[in-house]
Amino acid sequence: MDTLTVRITDNKEQNDRLFEKAADIIRKGGLVAFPTETVYGLGGDAFDESAAAKIYAAKGRPSDNPLIVHIAEVSDMEKLSDDIPEIAYKLAEKFWPGPLTMIVRKNDRVPLSVTGGLDTVAIRLPSHPAARRLIRESGTFIAAPSANLSGRPSPTRASHVVEDLSGRIDMIIDGGDIEIGLESTIVDLTEDVPVILRPGYITREMLMDAVGEVRLDKALMTGVAANVRPKAPGMKYRHYAPKAAMTIVEGNTDKVIAYMKDKLDTQTEAGHKVGLMLTSADAAFFDKGEIISLGDRNDEDEIAKNLFAALREFDDRGVDVIYSEAFPETGVGQAVMNRLLKAAGHTVVHV
Ligand code: TXA
Ligand code: MG
Repeated sequence: MDTLTVRITDNKEQNDRLFEKAADIIRKGGLVAFPTETVYGLGGDAFDESAAAKIYAAKGRPSDNPLIVHIAEVSDMEKLSDDIPEIAYKLAEKFWPGPLTMIVRKNDRVPLSVTGGLDTVAIRLPSHPAARRLIRESGTFIAAPSANLSGRPSPTRASHVVEDLSGRIDMIIDGGDIEIGLESTIVDLTEDVPVILRPGYITREMLMDAVGEVRLDKALMTGVAANVRPKAPGMKYRHYAPKAAMTIVEGNTDKVIAYMKDKLDTQTEAGHKVGLMLTSADAAFFDKGEIISLGDRNDEDEIAKNLFAALREFDDRGVDVIYSEAFPETGVGQAVMNRLLKAAGHTVVHV
């Protein structure tokens, strides 16, 4: 299949044609990758079982891993669920449109193929204007996972989507670089107390300010070895993973740098290409190796935004091993460390 890639520009007529075409593809059961404020999504009609099947096939995704349904208005929730708790409206008022996904009981209109057989549905109202326009113009809701091949880092630029899905989907809407760079926070509202199944830009503290007690799914920060099953099926897979084996080096900065310098020397001598993922201040200590700086240690938004592109960049540079610093867990930093731990398969050394 030929994949049409079209860039959003300042030209109104061109954009009108772009969205007309994209909405038409969605209505006919095809697939369109589009920008959201978190990462690029791979969209299909949420009420069309065959579109869901195409999404799973294009990504190579296990079909027990449910999709998020993207809507354009808060009241659209009522078309997907007959059982919306009061708290959902409170969260919607505070955080929608934006990077928050809520899980509620689904109604009969939502196909089981979209929810991976679950009786709940994940719903998100994105803030990115291109995402909202596509949903509105297609006249349906859009089921969309992140637009990467299953297991690879989520795409934060159109070129990442091209790399993974070119030839496998109908169209890619290129909206440039993504603002946040990590997937939405997922909160499960089907239990007595809201539970975060996936951390993101909307932090636990922000949710608690809005609605009181909020728990974290126990499986979140642990590895598979801990034998705790995450409630979001997608969180159990190895994920975001670069091709090279990655180790997180945690500890006092001087020791972390000394450890990495030592590894850089011994691994290079052994004929391996070594990647180092660092904050900008620490990157200055290295003059060899494949260095990628994620930004200022105190700017967790910048680190979040650069993380997935960096993991892909290491693949492009063909590194054999990667060592990464641990980053501060304040604010969105918690989500950064969640993704980093998954990318490293929970391999951490303490120095
Ligand atoms: O920011 C985002 O959420 C992006 C953009 C495109 O909106 N989408 C995204 O989708 O990250 P995806 O498919 O890559 O991740 C969805 C996660 C998976 O871990 C899945 O298991 C979980 O949401 N999920 C979906 N429906 C669920 C449900 N009913 N119950 C529990 N977990 C669910
Ligand atoms: Mg994903």
